[in-house]
Amino acid sequence: MVWDLPTRLFHWAFAISIVGAFLTGREGNLFWHELFGLAALGLFVFRIIWGVIGHKSAQFKTFVVGPKKIWVYLFGLTRRRNQPTPGHNPLGALSVLALLGLMGTLGVTGLWTGDDILYEGPLSFLAPDWAGFAGRWHILLQELILPLVGLHLAALLTHRVFLKERLVKRMITGGSHETAPRPTRTRAGLILLVTCVSAAMSLAALTPNY
Ligand code: HEM
Ligand code: HEM
Repeated sequence: MVWDLPTRLFHWAFAISIVGAFLTGREGNLFWHELFGLAALGLFVFRIIWGVIGHKSAQFKTFVVGPKKIWVYLFGLTRRRNQPTPGHNPLGALSVLALLGLMGTLGVTGLWTGDDILYEGPLSFLAPDWAGFAGRWHILLQELILPLVGLHLAALLTHRVFLKERLVKRMITGGSHETAPRPTRTRAGLILLVTCVSAAMSLAALTPNY
């Protein structure tokens, strides 16, 4: 199996929380924004841990490669020589890192972001000097959400149309590949995912004035 259950659950829950955080943030609905944002942060923390101890194709060391391998992949792409990858291809890995990096930074800076009216972030009582800086970056970086998610969806469409690869189906069913190992530690992964999301969401209890 290419994507084990914890990785698939992570992905779809992450997509929902990011869409939720984006819409509620833009609307100024901070009650729901905080909950979606904290859920995304918990999922991000889970994915970082799972990228070290999880299923082989979800491990960072499996898909994060150097510039040389990315060039070889790009060259193969122009000649249609690449074999389907049992996980993220070298180029896709860059977009995964960018998506995770951006959303993780938004999740963390959000903990100190206020609206300058009533709302203060749940950790604003810790290191209050850092709140203005974190808030400015939160507002600045959220501008990258649409371009990055747009690129993600465009890449998936390109794979479907030009390379005939059904990556979305694989992210739903798990997919198969002769070199992809059987999933192990699925139960531990699910427990870890629920624990990370619950711990992050419980930070909402620390939010003052709300
Ligand atoms: C990955 C998770 C997150 C995403 C994608 C996200 C995205 C956004 C977006 C799109 C806005 C609207 C910005 C604008 O229209 O100017 C926003 C504002 C805001 N976010 Fe987040 N956010 C996330 C996490 C969080 C978290 C965890 C918190 C707090 C616990 C938070 C607190 C805020 C606050 C207070 C604002 C309003 C800032 C203002 O009115 O100046 N965010 N965020
Ligand atoms: C805001 C929305 C989204 C975000 C933030 C997002 C984020 C991500 C991330 C971080 C990964 C890497 C997964 C991992 O290694 O654990 C990924 C992979 C993937 N995403 Fe999304 N995603 C979003 C929406 C979608 C949607 C709507 C679809 C389907 C139409 C989709 C389909 C996929 C697929 C198929 C992969 C695996 C690609 C591959 O095989 O290399 N994503 N996404």
